[in-house]
Amino acid sequence: MIDHTKPLRCNPEVEKKNPIIIALDGKSLAEILPIVEKLCGTGCILKVNDLAFFEGMKIVSRLEPYGRVMLDFKCHDIPNTVSNTLNQLVKNKILPWAVTVHASGGIEMMKKAVETLRGYPTKVLAVTVLTSLNEESCGKVYSSNPTDQVKKLAEMAYVAGVDGLVCSPKEVSMLREISPELTLVTPGVRSPGASSDDQKRIDTPKSALENGATHIVMGRQILGAKDPVAEVKRVLKEELNIY
Ligand code: C5P
Repeated sequence: MIDHTKPLRCNPEVEKKNPIIIALDGKSLAEILPIVEKLCGTGCILKVNDLAFFEGMKIVSRLEPYGRVMLDFKCHDIPNTVSNTLNQLVKNKILPWAVTVHASGGIEMMKKAVETLRGYPTKVLAVTVLTSLNEESCGKVYSSNPTDQVKKLAEMAYVAGVDGLVCSPKEVSMLREISPELTLVTPGVRSPGASSDDQKRIDTPKSALENGATHIVMGRQILGAKDPVAEVKRVLKEELNIY
């Protein structure tokens, strides 16, 4: 049982050193809590998507005792609606580490998101092309190849003033050239030999970080492991030389 009177979060310095974002996908809050309780000593960022749709924005405050939270809403709507969504966070003083919007929502939409969260600590991250799209499916959606499309969306996002981008590890070095300051988050990350699942444009944690990512998203490889905490520690120690 968790004693909520005691601070669970690890040292901010440990958090800063850990680039792993755990995608807490496809599980209930009851299933997630024991995992994040064990994980909190590692300083991983906790990314919520489907859980936030079910539990609501309050999931952020529920998870914050265990780590920084990335609210992966992937907002994609008209500027006013996106602003209303993000404004609910501000009004309710729910200020996660980051929220996501789709860059394909356009410059005005992203500008509005940035404006709504200006002065608050929450980062706005713009998702470029989903890492589950390959050359062919990207062509069908955008009539363009992943490299050109990611570049185009990233440039729009940069003009809009976002804090960072979400892209595949295959494009991260190209986006690092846009600015040394941007937070660059890469899903589609798998350790050597791990299953790629439905991800198409993938690379290893080490090479994603070497190519300029500031953070790497790992979901199924960690949550599907027999011991998720041991798997996080293994990646940090054996693959990334952190700790
Ligand atoms: O399980 P896996 O490591 O593939 O998890 C990847 C996570 O990253 C999922 O939560 C997915 O929604 C997210 N994501 C992605 N591709 C993007 C943006 C986010 O896979 N471009």
